[in-house]
Parts: sequence; C-alpha cells; structure tokens
Amino acid sequence: VELRIAFIGFGKVAQAFARMIESRRDYLLREFDLSWRTMAIATANHGSIFTREGIDLTEAVAAMESGANLHKLGGAFAARDPYEVLERCPADILFETTTLNPTDGEPAATFIRQALERGINVVTANKGPVAFAYRELKTISVRNKASFRFEGAVMDGAPVFNLAEYCLPAATVKGFAGVLNSTTNVILEGIEEGRSFEESLSEAQRIGVAEANADYDIDGWDACVKAVVIAKVLMEADIDPRQVARKGIRGVRGEDMRSARNEGMTIRLVARGWRDGLRTCLSVSPERVPLDSLMGSTRGTSNALILETDLMGEIAIVEKSPGVEQTAYALLSDMLRIRSSMSGRHSIG
Ligand SMILES: NC(=O)c1ccc[n+]([C@@H]2O[C@H](COP(=O)([O-])OP(=O)(O)OC[C@H]3O[C@@H](n4cnc5c(N)ncnc54)[C@H](OP(=O)(O)O)[C@@H]3O)[C@@H](O)[C@H]2O)c1
Repeated sequence: VELRIAFIGFGKVAQAFARMIESRRDYLLREFDLSWRTMAIATANHGSIFTREGIDLTEAVAAMESGANLHKLGGAFAARDPYEVLERCPADILFETTTLNPTDGEPAATFIRQALERGINVVTANKGPVAFAYRELKTISVRNKASFRFEGAVMDGAPVFNLAEYCLPAATVKGFAGVLNSTTNVILEGIEEGRSFEESLSEAQRIGVAEANADYDIDGWDACVKAVVIAKVLMEADIDPRQVARKGIRGVRGEDMRSARNEGMTIRLVARGWRDGLRTCLSVSPERVPLDSLMGSTRGTSNALILETDLMGEIAIVEKSPGVEQTAYALLSDMLRIRSSMSGRHSIG
C-alpha cells in the first residue's frame, strides 16, 4: 500500500525527515513494506500546495532551502492556507511540525483535531498540542480509529512513549525527573566555565538548540511543557502548563555554580513529576544535583529522563547530543508504527 502523506510545517525537522525517508526508499519498502506519496505541504510563509499526482519531496526541500515559494513546484495546486489543505487533500498521515506555541498549543491543536476528525493519522514533533489538548485529541483519535503519535515531542528521537507503551507493559509510571532542555544546559555549563549568561546564551543560539524565542527555554517554559506532556501521557495527569510551579535559570550566577561545584554538585534545570494521593504534581526549577549523578553528568545538549515505575523500578533514558536528525527519526519511527498498525501487524520488524 502506498501511504498518502501530508505536511503542515516544513521547516528544519520536516525537511530532515523528508531527506531521511527519500534516501531510504528502497530499504523502507523492502524491510517494512513502507512506501508513500506526498499529497500536500502547508507552511506559514512559503505557500501551501496540494496535488493529486504527488509532490517530489526532494524538490520541495530544495525549494525551501532556496527560500522559494512552494507554489513554484510543478503539478501542484496552490491552497489558501493549511485549513484548505486539510479540507481538500486526501491523506493517510499528516506530519504536523509547526512552531511551538507554549501558551495554548494553537494553531497546531486545531490542525491535528481537524485531521483526526477526518480519520487521518497524525504524527507531530510539536509538544504544544500534546501539552494543552492531549486528552481531547486522544479521544478524537480513538473515536475515528486514527493514530495520534508524538514521539519527538519530548526527547527528540529517544524512545519515551514507545518505550512505555511497548516495552513496559503492565508497569505504572509513578513519577519522573529529567533534564529536558538543552539550551539551559548549555547556558549553565557556560556560566560554570566562567562565561557570562549572555555569552552562553549566544553559544546555545549559535549551535541551533535555542527556541526561536529563547525566553521559553530560559524561563523554563520548554521544560514545563515537556513535563506536562510526560505527566499527561504516562501518568494520566490533568494539568495545564500554566499551573506548574515553574522557575527558570535567570537567577543562577557564576558564584552559585562555583559553590555547588566545591561540594561536588552542579546546577541543572530539573523537571519533576510525582503523585500526591490522586493528584499529579509537577515542578520545574534549577536544582543542585551531584556531579556524578545521571542528571549532573548531562553535558552540552544532552538530555536525561528517569522514569520511576512500580514494577521496573527506575529506568533512565539518555540522549547524547541530539540534533534535528534525531527528531526526524522520531517521525519515521511513528510512521512505521502507523504502517504496521494499518497492516494489522503487531510488530514493526
Ligand atoms: N528542531 C528540533 O531539533 C526540534 C526537536 C524537537 C521538537 N521540535 C519541534 O518540532 C517543531 C518544528 O521544529 P522546526 O525546528 O522544524 O521548526 P522550523 O524550522 O521553525 O519550522 C516550522 C515550520 O512550520 C511552519 N509554520 C509555522 N506556523 C505555521 C502555521 N500557522 N501554519 C502552517 N505552517 C506553519 C513554518 O513555515 P515557514 O517555513 O513558511 O515559516 C515552518 O515551515 C516545533 O514544534 C519544535 O518545537 C523541534
């Protein structure tokens, strides 16, 4: 079966994903019986297009790289906006990778809702809609027999949700602790090494890990939204990012880092989730952690997440120096899950 795929958002992640799958067409067909035809691409500033015959993804990536409007691609119709694409384009999977909106997850949540209502499977790397609308979107997906997958939303390509769903059957997640934001890690490390806050932030921006608005990282919003996603999906929590006790790293100074280090500690922006009776509580704040602990030893852009479970004790996921390729891989792993569920196979391999 050839899957009809569509994109809303075609930036760094979607383009890396497009390159990843197009360069592995033969392999993915042979090993996973996976083939696809691109039916639509919608962006904010580069036009929105749909087609009946199929869009050449490699040409679309080249057009985006050169800053051209997608309307220039041959054989495609111009759409007014992503909503028209959703209305008019037949698709089996929508890849939603628009920019994070940490205040309400929109318009991504609306794009996803509309697709799921039409029975289109959705894969996103955008944590906003999961943090704000997980329960509603999940309910719609179940009602319409469509998948809603978001492995890339929290730790790029490292398996968090797939690990819990497929590798920890019958285990309950009781809590978690994690260093989930690369930008603050890079800044704290820079401060520790004697650079100023601003210099360290510039470094995070230079290597491309900071959000478009770096305040989201520095003030703990990114870590907070990720914590909410983990809590909603793995702990059935009913909590909004705005309700989380959240403190960013603006107040952390060089002397704080040095005094921590003198005691064998360092400071990391730690996201925590735990149960208090029936409630799930979350916090995001700079914490002193032992230098030789898992969280204390996350360097550079690396992330770490420790899940506390009832049957498996603590299990840790560490992602070393993630980049856009890892997030692209999350989209591929979700696509393969959907492919295998469509064919009624229970395992991908
Ligand atoms: N970059 C990473 O390593 C990474 C890792 C994990 C998760 N994520 C998440 O993945 C998502 C995509 O990240 P990215 O780095 O690929 O971002 P990006 O390069 O800024 O691309 C965003 C894309 O979304 C489009 N877009 C924005 N608002 C839109 C709207 N209202 N309607 C239609 N299209 C819209 C943009 O259009 P234009 O091109 O026309 O501006 C662009 O194509 C974000 O939610 C991000 O938080 C990224």
